[in-house]
Amino acid sequence: MSDSVVAIEGVEKQYGTAETPVCVLKGVDLQIPRGDFAAVVGASGSGKTTLMNILGCLDRPTRGTYRLEGEDVSRLSDAALSRVRNRRIGFVFQSFNLIAQLTVVENVEVPLFYARVPRRERRRRVEALLEAVGLSHRLHHHPTQLSGGECQRVAVARALVNEPVLLLADEPTGNLDSHNGAEVMKLFHLLHGQGRTIVLVTHNPEIAAALPRVIEMRDGSILRDHAKTTVAAAGGA
Ligand SMILES: Nc1ncnc2c1ncn2[C@@H]1O[C@H](COP(=O)(O)OP(=O)(O)O)[C@@H](O)[C@H]1O
Ligand SMILES: [Mg+2]
Repeated sequence: MSDSVVAIEGVEKQYGTAETPVCVLKGVDLQIPRGDFAAVVGASGSGKTTLMNILGCLDRPTRGTYRLEGEDVSRLSDAALSRVRNRRIGFVFQSFNLIAQLTVVENVEVPLFYARVPRRERRRRVEALLEAVGLSHRLHHHPTQLSGGECQRVAVARALVNEPVLLLADEPTGNLDSHNGAEVMKLFHLLHGQGRTIVLVTHNPEIAAALPRVIEMRDGSILRDHAKTTVAAAGGA
């Protein structure tokens, strides 16, 4: 079933020792079809980041399988996993994780170095993406010269620069005021409209309510998974 970008089955994650294991994910099954835009919500400590890190190939499940576009990535070596991360997944963090010493262009270029894309092609792609996220006028600024919202848009451009099949964001508006948060969400909605597949963790009920699917976690399991019909229902009534 390769039209699922993500298919995980029976995923468990344990920390701690063999004698005193701490079970943080307790058998999670989840499918994310191409073009989906899902919110992951739930109390702090419910396992959202652990799940995102597994989806992002930053971590491996203790048990269970993860298929990314049909390919089992749950048992790959570190080198193979970092390649998957670089080529096929874009990850946006709450705290932006930009490199302070680099300019905006250079930050977005980083994943292209690892992918060995030639310089000319790098610049072409980076500038096109920075234009798409509305930052053409900030190309040679450093992160400290930007607002939080601008930093996060740089991080989104960096996440997209290798044309990933999956865009993940762990509380991308968590460090932003409401205006900047709204700007960043507008960008995610735009990307969804262009057909991107996005999974986004949020604590903000308004942000979650505006997404087509809401996955609610509790205590290491999926408690509810609610998809809305995409038809713009007649308002009023
Ligand atoms: N590296 C780790 N070692 C031990 N426990 C961890 C580790 N990472 C997360 N946890 C625990 O797993 C639980 C879920 O954490 P997390 O996935 O960060 O939740 P959320 O993002 O929903 O707040 C928490 O109880 C947390 O303390
Ligand atoms: Mg978290």
